[in-house]
Amino acid sequence: MAHMPEPPYQVGYFVGSLATASINRTLSKVLIKLAPSELQFTEIPIKDLPLYSYDYDDDYPQVALDLKKAISDADAVLFVTPEYNRAIPGGLKNAIDWASRPWGQNSFARKPSAMIGTSPGSIGTAVAQQNLRSVMSFCNSPQMNTPEGYIQAKPGLFTEHGEVTDDSTADFLRGFMTEFRDFIERVYTALHQHG
Ligand SMILES: Cc1cc2nc3c(=O)[nH]c(=O)nc-3n(C[C@H](O)[C@H](O)[C@H](O)COP(=O)(O)O)c2cc1C
Repeated sequence: MAHMPEPPYQVGYFVGSLATASINRTLSKVLIKLAPSELQFTEIPIKDLPLYSYDYDDDYPQVALDLKKAISDADAVLFVTPEYNRAIPGGLKNAIDWASRPWGQNSFARKPSAMIGTSPGSIGTAVAQQNLRSVMSFCNSPQMNTPEGYIQAKPGLFTEHGEVTDDSTADFLRGFMTEFRDFIERVYTALHQHG
């Protein structure tokens, strides 16, 4: 039978932006503050990974081994990502490609995931998330389907310390993280029962 993690669940989170003033990094801080206590968070860094090629498959660099270990150590992964040109940023896709290989050692297989993102645009990263859903489907990650988190970053919505200034957004984000906890539990219950 499959391993059945107990709460608190360890969540590895990816911030899809490398920008120092990233609004998605701020959103990640907000989400961690609003999350239920059964979720514990560790960032999985992506910025120092070289560009992936299968030439590395026989000899992964340490930074990529660290990435795969971080995902393996996590019970679930959370993507907090911007939308760049209607897709996920290249740096995030690069990290996913590293983690998905070498062939047969895909770190995301059966790893529950959720995604959320913010942008100033009115559809708040919806297109990038559809792109990410497609990628994570191929990586065989059970994904939380609902709620969906398309957050429009209006000026002043978040403070730099990770506070939300709007109650309805705070309620939504709190609910999103509570649903993620429940989703992780459901995935592991099913995997435990059915292998
Ligand atoms: C290369 C590039 C492409 C972008 N494309 C989109 C886009 O397709 N949709 C969108 O809503 N915003 C787009 N934006 C604006 C971003 O939403 C905005 O820069 C936001 O701050 C990015 O999130 P971050 O601060 O976490 O990096 C783009 C920004 C850049 C730099």
